[in-house]
Amino acid sequence: MTFVIRKVHRWASLVFTLVVSAIFAGMTFMELPEWFYYLPLPPLAVLLPTGIYMFVLPYFSGQRDGTPAHEGRT
Ligand code: HEM
Repeated sequence: MTFVIRKVHRWASLVFTLVVSAIFAGMTFMELPEWFYYLPLPPLAVLLPTGIYMFVLPYFSGQRDGTPAHEGRT
């Protein structure tokens, strides 16, 4: 499940980056229609919940390996 969420987040980030790049590139050539500037919002709407899910996951997983924070993980 987490693997799927991570994969969705990864691909959405790629789409988001490409759309934002396309907007910046397009702006240099022509005046873009207003709706064009809203195109990053759908991938961002995917990134936000999947990102928050991955962020909170460690706090709810219940896995504790007993390693003190100051020792860190190697
Ligand atoms: C919108 C709010 C976002 C939140 C809350 C969020 C949160 C997170 C979290 C918690 C992780 C996992 C980090 C870990 O492995 O411990 C992650 C991974 C990642 N995020 Fe986001 N993120 C957000 C937006 C973005 C955006 C805008 C991009 C890039 C355009 C992005 C690109 C990535 C990538 C590439 C990864 C690594 C995924 C992988 O494992 O391949 N994220 N993000």
